[in-house]
Order: sequence, then C-alpha cells, then structure tokens
Amino acid sequence: MKKIIVIPGDGIGQEITASAVTVLKQVDAKFNIGLEFETRDAGGTSYEKFGTPLTDEALDACKRADGVLFGAVGGKKWDSLPVHLRPEKAIFGLRKGLGLFANLRPTKVYPELINSSPLKPELVGGSDLLIVRELVGGIYFGPRCESETKDGVEQAWDTEIYSVPEIERITRLAFETAKLRRGKVTSVDKANVLAASRLWRKVVVDVAKDFPDVELNHLYVDNAAMQLVLNPKQFDVIVTNNIFGDILSDEAAVIGGSIGLMPSASIGELTSLYEPIHGSAPDIAGKGIANPMGTILSAAMLLRYSLKADDAAKAIERAIDRTLADGYRTADIFTDGFKRVGTDEVTDIICKNL
Ligand code: IPM
Ligand code: MG
Repeated sequence: MKKIIVIPGDGIGQEITASAVTVLKQVDAKFNIGLEFETRDAGGTSYEKFGTPLTDEALDACKRADGVLFGAVGGKKWDSLPVHLRPEKAIFGLRKGLGLFANLRPTKVYPELINSSPLKPELVGGSDLLIVRELVGGIYFGPRCESETKDGVEQAWDTEIYSVPEIERITRLAFETAKLRRGKVTSVDKANVLAASRLWRKVVVDVAKDFPDVELNHLYVDNAAMQLVLNPKQFDVIVTNNIFGDILSDEAAVIGGSIGLMPSASIGELTSLYEPIHGSAPDIAGKGIANPMGTILSAAMLLRYSLKADDAAKAIERAIDRTLADGYRTADIFTDGFKRVGTDEVTDIICKNL
C-alpha cells in the first residue's frame, strides 16, 4: 500500500483536498496503485485543536508517508498570533522537518483559458516553464531580529545565507529536470549587489560543467521579472533562491491565466509534499465554489514524482483538459458563455472524464 497523508489545513483547503482525494480514489480504482489515506491537521485548524500550528505527531506521520497532499493554511482569525503560533509556521515546519529543498512550480497555458490571461494571447500562447525554487534556505531561514534598538532607533533584520552544498543540490535538480524538458536552465540571482548571489552564480556555473547538453544563462531578478511577462516563451527551467522563487512564481502564475490551476511539488529527502500555489482564500471558504483543479493537478504530480505512476498522472491531467474543453468553469475562471460549476460538481465531471 502507498500511504498518503492529507493535510487539508484552513479555509478552502478542506474543500479542495476532499475533492483531490475523491479524484485519487477514482484513479486508484482504475490503475490499482493501492492508495491509503490518513488525515492530519496543520495551520489554524491545528492551533485550535492542539495549541500549535504543527504537532510533532503530524510531522512524524508525514516522514513515514509515501507522499503528502497539502491544501492551504492561514486566515484572519490567526493573523494576530505571535509568529511561532501563526499558520505559516506549519509550512516552514514541514519544509524544514521533511527537508523539502526544491519547490517545482510549472506554468502551463491552457488553450481554453488563454483569454483569461491578462497578457496578450500571442505572447503567452505556447509558453511552458518550470520554476525550481530553493525552499529550505536563504533569507526565509537565516538569522533574524524582530526588533532591536540601535542609537535610539528601532530596527529589524533578516539574513540571506547560502552554502555551496545547498546551491549545488538545487542546481543539480534543475539541470536533471531540464534534461527531461527542453534542455535550458536560466539561473536568476542579484549577483550585481548580493554576496550570496555571487556565490550562487559561481556554483551554478560549476555544476553546469556536468551537464554539457543543457544550455545555461543568467538573469538578474529584476530583469527576470520583466522578461517573464515580456517574453515567457524564452524560459524552460528557471532555478532561483527561496525569496526570488516565491515572488517570480506568483508572477508566472498569471501567464497560465489562473492561479487556481497551478500545482506545485516540494521535493524532499524523506518524502515530498504537493500543494496548489494559491492560498486558503478564507473569503470563499465553505461556499462550495473554490476551484479544486490546482490541488487535483498537485495530486497528479504526487502520482508522477513520488509513486512513479505516470499513466495515472497523465489520466488526471487529461481529465482536467477535457473538463475545461467542455466549457466547465469554477467562479475564478468563469466568463460569459461557459458553464459555471461549484467544487463538487466540477469534481464529479473530472471523475467522469477519467
Ligand atoms: C508560498 C507562500 C509561502 C511562502 C507563504 C505562505 C509563507 O507564499 O508557498 O509561495 O512565502 O513561501
Ligand atoms: Mg508565495
């Protein structure tokens, strides 16, 4: 049996993971993968029950799992808690605790949704890129000070630190992935200003020597941000640090038309975690209108990367394509002339299309 830990989390996390589990069960019935599900809490939901955003028990269960399917965490209710109790702490606990060093965020343009992109169709059409974001280092995890007083003035600081092995590990994964795609890596840094970026660039150049068939170029992050919307088709694999990857991956989601459709995989040493890149959307939680496609596509990535069930993953991706082609749209991607559906309804249709 293959054990999957499902962590719905907060807000729409509950609805969208339920929907993805329904789809996974249907796929399992067809492909006989032998999936087994267990649920754990995280974020505000865990805080309410256990007084902490992530229990050791939940983390341990994930460590033993074949894969983790994660919804989203966060909500207004918990925004004023001290930092160590806030829902986001669960995400960092899982990233660090499971050693999830690489976050893969693919952007695909669905021909059916090309007109929902705020960018010109001829500009985004055919773009297909993958952001490989370093996820357990850099300024997210470096030493920080919430508040101190210097010369009578309050200040705060965070630190960007990268070691050679950390950069090597993420760069290798990016190059390996590029080999299976179109063979191009763009490394994004701020080497004209930051020391950590200068080391980043040096290590990337060194690692590239082991991949003579993969083309490498470098962009400064400000230019990369501009190039992403000017000419997204130039990119295949983008490799970058934690914070630049955070920012650029939200920007890249716009290319695809809707953030509701964007899946992600966080690849780890012990296990890997899969989640949609949108958040917990507390404003629409419980209304049955959330788009589950990003989570369902994340479940497909789980099948592909953690369970090596590529056929099953493709079946899910095709079922989503078909559902969109047949004109079904959740509220986030609905435009006149299409069929508006809720979370459960679209899940049923995807299952029928499997
Ligand atoms: C993401 C999110 C998180 C991050 C937040 C919720 C802490 O934006 O996964 O991209 O910044 O990494
Ligand atoms: Mg982000």
